[in-house]
Amino acid sequence: MEQQLIAKFDNETERLIHLVIELKKQRNAVILAHNYQNPEMYKIADYIGDSLGLSQEAAKTDADIILFCGVKFMAETAKILSPSKTVLLPTLDAGCSLADMATPEKLAEVKKMHPEAAVVSYVNTTADIKAMSDVCCTSMNAVRIVNSLPNDEIIFLPDRNLGRYVASKTNKRIILWDGYCFVHDKLNAKILADLKKKNPEAKIIAHPECREEILQMADHVCGTGGMAKFANSNGTKDFIVVTECGMTEMLRQDVPNKNFYSFCNICPYMKSTTLPLVVQSLVYNQHEITLPKDIIAKAKRALDRMLEFN
Ligand code: 13P
Ligand code: SF4
Repeated sequence: MEQQLIAKFDNETERLIHLVIELKKQRNAVILAHNYQNPEMYKIADYIGDSLGLSQEAAKTDADIILFCGVKFMAETAKILSPSKTVLLPTLDAGCSLADMATPEKLAEVKKMHPEAAVVSYVNTTADIKAMSDVCCTSMNAVRIVNSLPNDEIIFLPDRNLGRYVASKTNKRIILWDGYCFVHDKLNAKILADLKKKNPEAKIIAHPECREEILQMADHVCGTGGMAKFANSNGTKDFIVVTECGMTEMLRQDVPNKNFYSFCNICPYMKSTTLPLVVQSLVYNQHEITLPKDIIAKAKRALDRMLEFN
């Protein structure tokens, strides 16, 4: 879909955008981009969205190649849902420190300690962790997924802030994992309070990976996929957006009649994908995501359970 962008690009960026669009036609590739990407990446994307939307698009596409402008766990999700397709991640720097905080060894230990508990893993996990999970969730559907399970005990991983938020919305016993996203976790509630004091009319929209004290100040807590909807439907004109910085650019584009102030940090993993790397990726098939067959089969079960639910 063609996007109306606020950002203006220089000639070299425009040239690279056209080159990528030409290459993706030649290679029958589809490009998926997360909301946190740099604005020029929106221009080359066939779909821009949140983790859930990207998982759904990955499942639907009939292109030969899926190129992911996001991070590695997202590209792995695409591979799990489309195992016969070539899935490309333009740079191996696009990891995620939150996903790396959950290891199969540690999860096996926690499962042993709580044999009756269901394992709900946030999509921000490696394929190995998904393969050990009963069901996956995103920040948009975590509460609904947890509430839909028959188990009273839930091992929720890897984000402790999202886990605490889910725990506040359910009667189930949530066993928290001590993981966090440093981009969201280091956002400071006192600074946000000062920003709010300067803009008392503004409504606060916060991502659930933020700390509890920030979520308590928020008028609306949601994943990146719910932010534009809230801003559109709410009567207020001004919003303070508390998440990764790229989201504000996306909101300014999607909801042009409102004002968005950003209280954010940059995710270096998300920003490591650039247009020259996308060109290289399409020309040289870099870097192809491959996963063992048994991991794909087990992880697919957990992702399918989530996708059936939506
Ligand atoms: P969502 O798009 O699910 O809100 O994801 C946030 C995130 O941190 C992805 O890395
Ligand atoms: Fe990982 Fe946080 Fe970056 Fe998302 S914003 S990719 S959770 S480090």
